[in-house]
Amino acid sequence: MRLTVPAYAKINLSLDVVNRREDGYHNLRMVMQTVSLNDTLTVETTDAPGFVMRCNAGHLPVDGKNLVIAAANRFFEYSGITPCGLSIDLEKRIPVAAGLAGGSTDAAAMLRVLNRMFKTNYTADELRAMALPLGADVPYCIEGGTSLAEGIGEILTPLSSLPECRILLCKPAFGVSTPAVFSRINWREIVYRPDTAGILTSLEKGHLAGVARRMYNVLEPVPTRDHPEIGEIRRRMLDCDALGSVMSGSGPTVVGLFDDEDAAQRAYSVLRAQYHDTFLLRPMPRQTV
Ligand code: C5P
Repeated sequence: MRLTVPAYAKINLSLDVVNRREDGYHNLRMVMQTVSLNDTLTVETTDAPGFVMRCNAGHLPVDGKNLVIAAANRFFEYSGITPCGLSIDLEKRIPVAAGLAGGSTDAAAMLRVLNRMFKTNYTADELRAMALPLGADVPYCIEGGTSLAEGIGEILTPLSSLPECRILLCKPAFGVSTPAVFSRINWREIVYRPDTAGILTSLEKGHLAGVARRMYNVLEPVPTRDHPEIGEIRRRMLDCDALGSVMSGSGPTVVGLFDDEDAAQRAYSVLRAQYHDTFLLRPMPRQTV
């Protein structure tokens, strides 16, 4: 049996850090949105035992260090099903170490694929419980869509969809380590926080500009200390008539929201001329498991 599924990237419309927990993780308050940029995961059962993985991004591990393999191990452990041989092909398009949950969405796709392949009929809630030990963003990636994520990212509340718009992503040429960003938060320096309640109200009203002008990420100053380019890309998006712009996750990808197709295309051309990882996208709805 062979199944192929898309694994969509996520962006943060906002990210607030509430506090640091005893276990080293941070309680967060984030508005998350799936976007139309995806990796493609193909899984096939094989007669030979073991998992064999191929990936077009040569620098990524294809053993247990890859979240896709970790997700397969987790599925068999949780379900009690005896593991069969799997041939796994991952075609990456989502930039790595970018703040777009690329690895998390691949892991979530693996859990969804195996749930279908083995007809285990786990609900989305069960898949999210299975997903959490793999990473804080993996439960959200099970269904995606527009969601409020709290706790370390696992307490999820579905929200009204982001109104139809154009979403510009631009990732500078460097990657960012998520643990490094969290460990370098300077609590005294946090002056601004996102107006999460205002974003939720704007989503309810279907008011794109209201969402866009409230977008903010308290982590943004951390990688920007070493890489002022993040702030420069954000300003360039605003100069190109973005309704709002913000860094996604722990960075360094910058997001811009546009209601005007021509403005979005112009901004894409300007940034794509300098940055290879530039994408002009649309919001994606929640997907059923
Ligand atoms: O869960 P995940 O492996 O994606 O998280 C990577 C790292 O990011 C964690 O080890 C932790 O340092 C940091 N993190 C955090 N609080 C969160 C999510 C991630 O401190 N809510």
